[in-house]
Amino acid sequence: MGKVIAMANQKGGVGKTTTAINLGASLAALEHKILVIDADPQANATSGLGLDTKNIKTSIYECLIEGTNPRDILLDTEIEGMQLLPSHIDLVGAEIEMLNMPNREKMLKQVVSKVKDDYDIVLIDCSPSLGLLTVNALTAADSVIIPVQCEYFALEGLGKLLNTIKIIQNRLNPDLVIEGFLLTMYDARLRLANQVVEEVRKHFQDMVFETIVQRNIKLSEAPSFGKPALLYDANSRGTVNYLNLARELLQKNNMTRIPNEEKILE
Ligand SMILES: Nc1ncnc2c1ncn2[C@@H]1O[C@H](COP(=O)(O)OP(=O)(O)OP(=O)(O)O)[C@@H](O)[C@H]1O
Ligand SMILES: [Mg+2]
Repeated sequence: MGKVIAMANQKGGVGKTTTAINLGASLAALEHKILVIDADPQANATSGLGLDTKNIKTSIYECLIEGTNPRDILLDTEIEGMQLLPSHIDLVGAEIEMLNMPNREKMLKQVVSKVKDDYDIVLIDCSPSLGLLTVNALTAADSVIIPVQCEYFALEGLGKLLNTIKIIQNRLNPDLVIEGFLLTMYDARLRLANQVVEEVRKHFQDMVFETIVQRNIKLSEAPSFGKPALLYDANSRGTVNYLNLARELLQKNNMTRIPNEEKILE
């Protein structure tokens, strides 16, 4: 029990954190118990869920480096059924401190194993790098969601990411699978966006989620209010997109729980 899914792409600003927050909130709204792990020193998932990072004294950093039990520092969010393991800027130092530790690639896996069975799904928000923290996240995960922004150069860097995933599958985590590529920030008015969708689908075929996340101002405003879009504007297109993504994910994994989980038509 407790499926662990990492959001990864070393490219910055593609929608990893937005997906961790809003997919998490949507899954919780569909009555699944969710943990979001903020594994990024930028701590955007932590602040985007309404927690003041200045007040966070104990974070995932202490779990990784000092052996703090994550259960002791989990935080509730405004969404019922969704908790957070917060990050802190200190996490920047963790990568260097972890370098000489035995099992340095498996430290997050150890942390996650202490709590994952308390949840249905654990979402790990990664930083925009392929450094040791991301390697740890991919080693701890059962699967990975790869957000791809519908922009110029969308496919750039994906080869390197897929290569890293392959190395991790060979050496550290043979069970890791790609949950799906997620097209984000789609603007139907732009020919380029449509070309990117076509190109990504041609390349990765049924590994691409059917659900596309559209560019939606509410998704970008919500974090500054410390809320997922679902609580900021329940009727927004962003909310609907992420609810549909949650339904698609649950169906793919045979995890649907409440009846009438048809996708919402947009
Ligand atoms: N679908 C969307 N519509 C509009 N704005 C979006 C959407 N998705 C994300 N954004 C905005 O784009 C910016 C980057 O998104 P986000 O922080 O989720 O990316 P990221 O991949 O986590 O970035 P980083 O690599 O820095 O961690 C943020 O300001 C976010 O609010
Ligand atoms: Mg982020």
